[in-house]
Amino acid sequence: MRYAAGVDVGSTQTKAVVIDEDRRIVARALTDTGANVMQAAQKCFDAACDESGIDKNAVGYVVGTGYGRYKVTFGDRQVTEISCHGRGAVHMFPGTGTVIDMGGQDSKAIRVKNDGEIIDFCMNDKCAAGTGRFLGAAAMALGLSLDDLGPVSLTSTKPVKISTTCTVFAEAEVLSWLGKGKAVEDILWGVHKSIASRSYGLLRRTGIIGEITFTGGVAKNPGMVKAMEEILDRPLNVSDDSHFMGALGGALFAMDHVVAAVQPARKEA
Ligand SMILES: Nc1ncnc2c1ncn2[C@@H]1O[C@H](COP(=O)(O)OP(=O)(O)OP(=O)(O)O)[C@@H](O)[C@H]1O
Ligand SMILES: [Mg+2]
Repeated sequence: MRYAAGVDVGSTQTKAVVIDEDRRIVARALTDTGANVMQAAQKCFDAACDESGIDKNAVGYVVGTGYGRYKVTFGDRQVTEISCHGRGAVHMFPGTGTVIDMGGQDSKAIRVKNDGEIIDFCMNDKCAAGTGRFLGAAAMALGLSLDDLGPVSLTSTKPVKISTTCTVFAEAEVLSWLGKGKAVEDILWGVHKSIASRSYGLLRRTGIIGEITFTGGVAKNPGMVKAMEEILDRPLNVSDDSHFMGALGGALFAMDHVVAAVQPARKEA
């Protein structure tokens, strides 16, 4: 059996996925990216192989993606995360026409053809207001873990309207609402709604066609899924592997090379 891998070195977390020739995920691993980006990439790839008992030598091609893709020094090729999230999303949900990727530092709206090719995209560069970091800042201010964010926010009955558009001030605003006696869950749901509204703005800029697939680590937060579904007034495609979608896309690009390498050379006419 031959394998291919994608390693998505994000600003916050590094994801590795290994697929087989049937393009099924056979291994995955997740690590914090941290300061040593090159080491995170290698560690994550090694963990995926080791934990699933796959011999690294059987991985015929590795694609690096994400902001640290050039630090995947053992990789064979780099592909942008836009292309990888698009390809991964269409593979997992073939009806996908639009992707919303919410990561640690960026949010991206991506329009794709049904073969995964990118038509257009739009991102919130320079500002983390609509991203995981904003949620992380709010969680820290409220003394909650990332895993609690969604479930707690979903118990809200009277959401607070969050007005800050800046991650740096998010903590101050959250604390000020706490001081005014607002409930943690109502502040938190307000934070989710504010992020959903920014992401909706991105999606409107690219246009929404076909099914919408939610990718990136923030898709693991059920509160964010619900906030997005409310503002979009439709269900989103979300999978347990949404966090790995970029790495999966990278692995699919890598598998193209593995397959092409074993095709018999065509004779020139
Ligand atoms: N279990 C979880 N519950 C809620 N949120 C989570 C969970 N795990 C991760 N996240 C969120 O996902 C974010 C990381 O997502 P992801 O790995 O897609 O980002 P990244 O690729 O490193 O960043 P970027 O694409 O912006 O460079 C974290 O900032 C965190 O907010
Ligand atoms: Mg990312």
